Amino acid sequence: MTYDFDHAPNRRAPDAVKWAVGENELPLWIADMDFAAAPEIREALGERLDRAVFGYGDIPESWYQAYRNWWARRHAFSMDPEGLIFCTGVVPAISTAVRKLTTPAENVAILTPVYNIFYNSIRNNGRNVLEVPLKNDGGAYAIDLDRLETALADPQTRMLIFCNPHNPVGKIWDRETLAAVGALAKRYGVTVVSDEIHCDIAKPGRGYIPFASVDETCAGVSVTCIAPTKAFNLAGLQTAAVYCADPLLRHKMRRALNTDEVAEPNAFAVTAAEAAFNRGEAWLDALNVYLWENRALAERFFAERMPAFTVTKAEATYLLWLDGTALGVENLPAFFRERAGVVLSGGRQYGATNAFLRLNLACPRSRLNEALERMADAVNTGTASRAAAVSPTKRARSG
Ligand SMILES: Cc1ncc(COP(=O)(O)O)c(C=O)c1O
Repeated sequence: MTYDFDHAPNRRAPDAVKWAVGENELPLWIADMDFAAAPEIREALGERLDRAVFGYGDIPESWYQAYRNWWARRHAFSMDPEGLIFCTGVVPAISTAVRKLTTPAENVAILTPVYNIFYNSIRNNGRNVLEVPLKNDGGAYAIDLDRLETALADPQTRMLIFCNPHNPVGKIWDRETLAAVGALAKRYGVTVVSDEIHCDIAKPGRGYIPFASVDETCAGVSVTCIAPTKAFNLAGLQTAAVYCADPLLRHKMRRALNTDEVAEPNAFAVTAAEAAFNRGEAWLDALNVYLWENRALAERFFAERMPAFTVTKAEATYLLWLDGTALGVENLPAFFRERAGVVLSGGRQYGATNAFLRLNLACPRSRLNEALERMADAVNTGTASRAAAVSPTKRARSG
C-alpha cells in the first residue's frame, strides 16, 4: 500500500491543542503530527467500535505479545512479559515514578535542554529539579558524564529522568553512553526512568538502543516508558506501557500505577496499541522516509536562507532544534509568531533560552515549505527590531 503524507485532515476545529491558533497561523509546535493515523489502525478501531460495548476492559495476552514482538523485531530487545505494565500515558507513568519512588524535597536529575513536562512531573510533586546541562558543541550534543556523576553522587538525588532518544535535540544515545549512565546510577543507587516514547521515529535504517537492553546493570536500575502514541500519532488514545526488568522495581511500579489509577485502559487503548505494533509497520517505515525528507529540506533551507541558525543534526524524532543566538533576538517564538504567523516552541521551556526554537517537522511538505518561507521573510526583513514576549497557546501539558 502507498500512503499519502502530502495531505492531512483539517485539525483546526474543534479540539486539537496544536491547532488552537489564529486563522492565518501555522502551528509547528506541540509534538503531535498533522497526518491521519495509519489506515490499518483506523480499521482496527472501527472493528472495536462495531463490537458496540464499552465496559471495563482488561489487558489481554495479545497486548503483551504485540509489545514484545515489536521490540524484539525492531529493536533487538527481548522483553520479559512479566516486566510489562499497561499505563495510560508516559507522563502519568513518569509522574507516578517520581511520586512513589522518591520522597518530597529529593532531587530528580534531568539532562537539559529536555522535554518541558519533566520539570512539571518533578515540581508538581514537590521534588527538586536538578539540571545537568548537555554539552553543546556547535549543535552536537553529548552527556557531560562528570557533571552527571556529581549530580548523582549527591545522596539527595534519587532519580534521573532520561530521554532516549532525546527530545528536543533528537539524539540517539550510543551503547557506551547508556552503559556509563547505568553504571553511575548503580554506583549511587539512583533509579533511571528512561522515556523512550520517541524511539520509533528515526532516520530510516537507524535504530535506537533500549536502555534496559544494554546490560544487567542498566536493566536493574531502570523503569522504561514506551508507547505507540508518538510514532503512530495516537496521543489522544492514552495508551502506553512501563517496563521493569527488576522484580522489586516492577512490584513498586505496578502498585504505584495502580494506586494512582493510571493502570486501566479505555476501550480503545489496547486495540490501538496492538494494531500499531502488529499492523502499522509499513506505514511507519513510509512515514520515517517522509519525515527524513522533510528534515533534509528544512536543513537545506536554513543553510541557504537563514544561515544565522545552527541546526542540530538529529537521528531521531520529528523535531528540529534550532540555535538562533546569532540573530540577536531575545524572544524568537514571539518574533516568528508576530512577524510570520508561525507558532514554534521556545527553548526556555526546555531549560535553554528563547534564542532556541523547536520546530515540528511532522506536517505535509507544502505546509513546512510555507512556514519556512514565512520565517525567512521575517528574518530577512525584520530582525532589526526586537519582538515582545508573547508565549504560544498556554496549556499545562504542551510539549
Ligand atoms: C519525551 C516525551 N515524553 C512523553 C510525552 C508525552 O507522553 P504521553 O502523551 O504518553 O503522556 C512526550 C510528548 O511530546 C514527549 O516528548
